[in-house]
Amino acid sequence: MFLSNGSISKPGEVTAAVKTAIDCGYRHLDCARAYQNEDEVGAGIKAKVDDGTIKREDLFVTSKLWCTHHHPDDVERACKQTLDSLGLEYLDLFLIHWPMAYKRGDVLFPKDADGNWQFDDTPQVETWKAMEKLVEKGLCKDIGLSNSNKKQVQDILDACKIKPATLQIELHPLLIQEDMVQFCKENGVTVTAYSPLGSPDRPWIKDDDPRLMEDPTVVEIAKKKGKSPAQILIRFALDRGNICIPKSVTPSRIQANFETLNFKLTSQEMEQLKGLNKDYRGCALEWIAHPHHPFFPI
Ligand SMILES: NC(=O)c1ccc[n+]([C@@H]2O[C@H](COP(=O)([O-])OP(=O)(O)OC[C@H]3O[C@@H](n4cnc5c(N)ncnc54)[C@H](OP(=O)(O)O)[C@@H]3O)[C@@H](O)[C@H]2O)c1
Repeated sequence: MFLSNGSISKPGEVTAAVKTAIDCGYRHLDCARAYQNEDEVGAGIKAKVDDGTIKREDLFVTSKLWCTHHHPDDVERACKQTLDSLGLEYLDLFLIHWPMAYKRGDVLFPKDADGNWQFDDTPQVETWKAMEKLVEKGLCKDIGLSNSNKKQVQDILDACKIKPATLQIELHPLLIQEDMVQFCKENGVTVTAYSPLGSPDRPWIKDDDPRLMEDPTVVEIAKKKGKSPAQILIRFALDRGNICIPKSVTPSRIQANFETLNFKLTSQEMEQLKGLNKDYRGCALEWIAHPHHPFFPI
């Protein structure tokens, strides 16, 4: 199952959330170096292995290579740093977080003295070849992509020895990405839906941005089925055949979000929800003018 960790939680909150989630039955943890909390996730995993609730091999732990580590010479070191923070010997899945390389180094968001972003020109295909070596070395069981557009996924499919296991993308009723989901299915790449609840706590949300969990159609379907809007949105992702990684640090929500396995949406409800599509992205990173920006190439 799934739980993931956002980047803006208070100290201690993520360790507690991981422990609660594992106790509830979640087994899939979605992490990333960029969330700056992998040590907290690791502490939660360790506590639950130490108290006998789970064994390491019961978990499916994903992490992501950050944009400053795309150079092939940096990939293994970055993976090992993540493993150190998580206290693990291997990852189940390691993704390239974004198809955009930033200036090499340990500053997550490198800018020059004038505040301009600093980039690197490593093509994602070169990074992918270094990712494949991690699988050969046993540092991760599988590898995948995140936030790549169709052409960027195709470039990897054309050049790879190991096919991406998954493409992790923003996916919810306001951004249903039918073409992309279909393309992945045709190519044997699973799709992982991030921000399935509409990411209401993203730091850059604006007052007039849509609030998916408050959408009247979502609320109406939730009332009719005796479920919460969040449960309807999680079920929406699952009923499309996708993997879903909602985030919560609130114990009651972690529990409720897990209780989505015992009902299904009707085809009419699915169509109603798909009808909300506006190709709306909450996580567009439109302020990054990178030549390989997946959504706004310059
Ligand atoms: N690959 C990428 O570039 C990328 C980008 C964004 C996200 N992700 C991954 O996807 C995960 C989820 O995305 P996200 O955090 O952007 O958004 P999300 O899961 O759509 O929304 C999380 C927000 O919803 C709230 N929430 C959770 N369950 C709820 C419930 N039952 N009722 C009401 N509110 C609820 C959470 O609050 P509380 O926590 O306060 O309970 C939090 O504010 C991330 O943690 C990350 O692992 C990946």
